[in-house]
Amino acid sequence: MAAPKMFDLEGRVAAVTGGNGGIGRGIAMGLAEAGAAVAILARNDEKNRATVAAIRELGTRTAAIKLDVTDRAALAPAMEAVERALGPIDILVNNAGISISRSSLKLEAEAWDRVLETNLHSCFFLSQIAARSMASRGAGGKIINIASEYSRFGAAGLTSYAAAKGGLVQMTKSLAVEFAARNIQVNAIVPGWIKTDMTIPAQSGTFYDEIITRTPAGRFGEPEEMAGAAVFLASHASDFVTGAIVYVDGGFAIR
Ligand code: NAI
Repeated sequence: MAAPKMFDLEGRVAAVTGGNGGIGRGIAMGLAEAGAAVAILARNDEKNRATVAAIRELGTRTAAIKLDVTDRAALAPAMEAVERALGPIDILVNNAGISISRSSLKLEAEAWDRVLETNLHSCFFLSQIAARSMASRGAGGKIINIASEYSRFGAAGLTSYAAAKGGLVQMTKSLAVEFAARNIQVNAIVPGWIKTDMTIPAQSGTFYDEIITRTPAGRFGEPEEMAGAAVFLASHASDFVTGAIVYVDGGFAIR
């Protein structure tokens, strides 16, 4: 299927955190298929190598930069490494995320900090670094944050995750306002229940049945199904879209 020119990412450079598996990999592959050069910013060397090899098969330039997004001092050097390898950054996807399921009566400070650092703080600082590069060139750009249904809904045992994702949505809107004049669009994708390592505990049993019943589409999504919205938000097709929260969730949020 030939894509309209407005979705073409040829000549663009993208970086995807946690891009070596799950939703991040689905998005990285989609951006590469649309023609972008794609850098993977993730921790596991073996998975990084495998993803880079798969992207190369698609015929675009790619690089893997080892990064733990909770290591604040490593964020700027990692983004510099992306730019050395592929050129100035045009598209940042803040996808890396973790959830720690634990009673709020028991959650340790270290666990709270780790979830907030991974799912929220790193997204701000990476956005700041990317936006500085985009702004310095007057080039415009795209920042895409991967949020969650729990940015809206409460969830027992997931307070740190919900707080981080709620913060990420508000961060998306505020950066969208602030960067609009620089032609940098900042948007978020809210995935529904997607088949990845993160949701393995929910992929069977009564919780699985509840999710399937609650989801109008009647199934989990696949990581690749996040790519369409990501390509849209990374491309010129979305130049007048900013601060949007795009639900790709089989209708989960409308029930
Ligand atoms: P996943 O566990 O398969 O992938 C998460 C990725 O983030 C992995 O590559 C992991 O290594 C990386 N990551 C985690 N901590 C990191 C760190 N400190 N530094 C660098 N990379 C790190 O999970 P999934 O499902 O692909 O999650 C991707 C994003 O989508 C997350 O932000 C998650 O919160 C979000 N999400 C997922 C949903 C789902 O149903 N799977 C639903 C809603 C949101």
